[in-house]
Amino acid sequence: MVKEVCTALANVPSGVILDATVGGGGHTQALLDLREDITVVGIDRDQNAIEATSTRLAKYKNRCFLQQSDFSKFENVLNNFGVKELSGFVFDLGVSSTQLDIAERGFSYKQPGPLDMRMNEKQFLTAGQVVNEYPAEKLIWILKTFGDERFAKRITTAIKKSRPITDTLHLAEVVKSAIPAPARRTGGHPAKRTFQAIRIEVNNELEQLSETLETVINWLSPKGRGVVLAYHSGEDRIVKKVFRDSESGGCICPQKLPCVCQARPTGKILNKKIIVPETAEMFSNQRSTSARLRSIERLGTNIESSS
Ligand SMILES: C[S@@+](CC[C@H](N)C(=O)[O-])C[C@H]1O[C@@H](n2cnc3c(N)ncnc32)[C@H](O)[C@@H]1O
Repeated sequence: MVKEVCTALANVPSGVILDATVGGGGHTQALLDLREDITVVGIDRDQNAIEATSTRLAKYKNRCFLQQSDFSKFENVLNNFGVKELSGFVFDLGVSSTQLDIAERGFSYKQPGPLDMRMNEKQFLTAGQVVNEYPAEKLIWILKTFGDERFAKRITTAIKKSRPITDTLHLAEVVKSAIPAPARRTGGHPAKRTFQAIRIEVNNELEQLSETLETVINWLSPKGRGVVLAYHSGEDRIVKKVFRDSESGGCICPQKLPCVCQARPTGKILNKKIIVPETAEMFSNQRSTSARLRSIERLGTNIESSS
């Protein structure tokens, strides 16, 4: 959703935009092309992405600074580059197409690969440990919570019986066999939700998201804007709540009455309804079908007068 991200950030004050999930650099490059008065600081926890994108975007080297890091540590990265405030930020959550396409990374249920799924290859926990070592109750919880998988119990029983599960295709087959035949025919590949849930667990994807978004909104200069692209309900719920809390300032007063609790809103939600990709993009990029874009604008310094 490069076009939609650029539209949301087109008129931000000049300065620095944080691309917290730089991946292959699609958003970063589009933003650098869009505005010559913009510098991008890009973060990714995947060292391979940082190396490949640094090479690919070398021609922007005076306006593009990339560093391997988890986005929960974005403040350290901004401090390293001497950045004091942000004109904008973009978080394009989850896994990249490049990570999915490289079979050896183990993210794909369609290609043979090890049960890995680590975005940061230096971390300890792998998908193999989750699949082969986690207790059943924990696995059921993960499949339900991170994958919205209604057959979590059946899948977990099948996984337990098949241990040790050796690779991605083996796991995909075990999951498929556990799902009743009529349900296999709807909702995409039967292993999709299980793979998503295990990936979220391996990379601890939701844990720091809420806190990080709350913090990054406070880094925006007045009229600065932030965009988040979420790909499943668990992520989107977090984004929605953080943005709403920013807009209400945590107000606890009854809805139709004037605020007397001295809440201090920090942002204004730009699109009340989520923005989804255009049909053409959904056709050309299967993964984009589940994308949900939300954006927020930082209020002016005089918060009361601008709200
Ligand atoms: C959907 S891709 C981003 C694609 C990117 N917008 C582009 O245009 O190519 C998500 C990226 O975020 C990275 N990522 C996911 N969680 C992260 C985290 N907590 N900290 C830093 N990077 C993260 C992944 O490694 C992946 O490269």
